[in-house]
Amino acid sequence: MEDLVRVEGVTKAYRLGEIDVWALRGVDLAIHQGEFVALTGPSGSGKSTLLHLMGGLHRPSAGRVLLEGKDISCLSRAELARLRGRKVGFVFQQFHLLPRASALANVELPLMYAGIPRKTRRERALACLDKVGLALRARHRPGQLSGGECQRVAIARALACDPPLLLADEPTGSLDTRTGREILGIFHVLVAGGKTVVVVTHEPYVASFAAQQVRLLDGRLEDGNGTG
Ligand SMILES: Nc1ncnc2c1ncn2[C@@H]1O[C@H](COP(=O)(O)OP(=O)(O)OP(=O)(O)O)[C@@H](O)[C@H]1O
Ligand SMILES: [Mg+2]
Repeated sequence: MEDLVRVEGVTKAYRLGEIDVWALRGVDLAIHQGEFVALTGPSGSGKSTLLHLMGGLHRPSAGRVLLEGKDISCLSRAELARLRGRKVGFVFQQFHLLPRASALANVELPLMYAGIPRKTRRERALACLDKVGLALRARHRPGQLSGGECQRVAIARALACDPPLLLADEPTGSLDTRTGREILGIFHVLVAGGKTVVVVTHEPYVASFAAQQVRLLDGRLEDGNGTG
């Protein structure tokens, strides 16, 4: 299988006034296309930072991140934004939906940024809502949906531009176990359909379903992890 993501010797420091906070201290990781990866580790170990680097939200301090073989570490902000639009869907613990917009409008948003015409946009957004079992809730606003339904809308939004890579940061962290398992089921269907999914999680039941488990400790991978 081809590597969709390669992380090579990546470090990341956040500058806080006079001091550097080292969130990642040298990480090597390969993720194959069509793989379901669980990223675990204690709070503060660098999980979100690594996810953001893989998705081109931030640039590494040193090392390289390759997406579909292309080095994205040196891209400008504008180039990274364009790349994210086509290649990466993000899902967050707190959903980050627009509260005043309908489920449909939330899913349409990335398609609007991508310049897709209105009619096609609507059709594609509805198809994505259908994929997560929410076609009948298209007109509901987030406040009129359950937590699990909000997360489905967020997944539909992440799928809108049909990116090969989905990155989810504790997507079940705000949900009860039953609802979390339903969300996990959606990820499984997506992986079976060829998507690559990386999930940051604290929950053993999520990690136990993953083909590859990667554990971070203090900004480094635990021994034996990540070699692909
Ligand atoms: N913007 C920032 N500025 C300064 N330090 C940061 C910033 N973001 C993260 N850090 C630090 O980097 C380290 C890694 O943070 P990160 O958010 O990646 O951890 P995490 O594993 O996702 O933790 P959690 O499980 O609590 O979400 C932490 O020590 C954190 O305090
Ligand atoms: Mg985090």
